[in-house]
Amino acid sequence: MSTKHCQLLIHGAAEVVSWDPQAPTNADSVVVHDGKIAAVGVEQELRKTWQPFGEINAFGGVIAPGFVDGHVHPVFAVGRAEEFDWRAQGVDYLEIAARGGGILSSVRNVREANPEDLFDTVCAHLRRMRHHGTTSMEGKSGYGLSTEDELKSLQILARAGDAVGMEVFPTFLGAHMFPEEYRDNQEAYMDLLCKEMLPAVKEQGIARAADIFIEQGAFNVEQARRYCERAIELGFKLRIHADQFHQIGGVELAVELGAECVDHLEVLSDSGLEAMALSGKTYAGLLPSVPHFLRQKEDAPARKLLQAGVPYFIATDFNPGSSYTPSLPEAAHFGRIRLNLTAAEVMHGVTLGAASSLGIDNRKGHLRPGADADLVVLALPDLFHFGYAFGENPVSQVVCKGDVVRF
Ligand code: NIG
Ligand code: FE
Repeated sequence: MSTKHCQLLIHGAAEVVSWDPQAPTNADSVVVHDGKIAAVGVEQELRKTWQPFGEINAFGGVIAPGFVDGHVHPVFAVGRAEEFDWRAQGVDYLEIAARGGGILSSVRNVREANPEDLFDTVCAHLRRMRHHGTTSMEGKSGYGLSTEDELKSLQILARAGDAVGMEVFPTFLGAHMFPEEYRDNQEAYMDLLCKEMLPAVKEQGIARAADIFIEQGAFNVEQARRYCERAIELGFKLRIHADQFHQIGGVELAVELGAECVDHLEVLSDSGLEAMALSGKTYAGLLPSVPHFLRQKEDAPARKLLQAGVPYFIATDFNPGSSYTPSLPEAAHFGRIRLNLTAAEVMHGVTLGAASSLGIDNRKGHLRPGADADLVVLALPDLFHFGYAFGENPVSQVVCKGDVVRF
């Protein structure tokens, strides 16, 4: 039988998580060709057809789709470690924000940052994520909160994605918080968002979605409705922060407006859950490292959401204030511990679930023939060990669009 050349053969895995019902259950190898997945199967069989230019030995680990992070705030200039000490003294997240710390302190840092330094920092964030297996991601602005600084953030994010070689799906989050200078004139900031910022972002074509933080001390439902309706009118998808600390109707609004996803949900009500179940379209963005990081008691009712058939993903929410981790395996660990999800469920959440929420599941989040060749090799004996250990990186190899990016 004649053989064809292929770019890469990854072989020697104990298990391949492909999310492809057609793939053989005893598959141990993946063939990559032209930056795409060409086949998943058993090494001996695949070698009859394919002659690889390069090979990777998975050494008895797990091959899985490259991770897709569906909720990330990567455009920040410095961390906020000082808040940890304040919180240790009993000041909570919303109180820190009300004092002008929190999100607004990151805003001051981004505004002051030299764009080239900020670019280098964002590249470093993306590389840290990829080091933990993330091969594509959603990425939000939201620490600029002026037209100029939001555009600067989104432009830097796009450049950083190109420079690092990671596909970034950008989201405009100008409605993250009211900036200091508009604290006493919220109406004027709403006008700025709806009349200037959203149209400017649209015109530059640098965001596919718009996001808003619906919460006490941030945006109320009435303001959110105005912002979201304007965003829809301009052709943006919606990805929404809601029900993190207080039920103020954010979830119901997100579902009503057909948002792609509504994220956090730590205090989701039964009626909110019912609305999500009825719609079946709006994804639940589960961010289980956040309540851990904020010492919050509540967790999103993940089991109930899954039982009700609500589509979901698991993300890091990587940001300096509420989840300072670039690692999806770490988020998966918290998903298993705090959300009572199984290994297969968290794996779905960081791969196919996230890709589907972004509408990119035709080519990402799975290893079906024709998908982008984004994959990871995990130094784990089987899928059941995913999210078991924490504090160490299980990712031993990353392949991004067919390129081996880390050994
Ligand atoms: O998703 N909740 C609002 N926004 C972010 C936190 C941003 C920050 O604290 O800097 C979040 O948790
Ligand atoms: Fe967030």
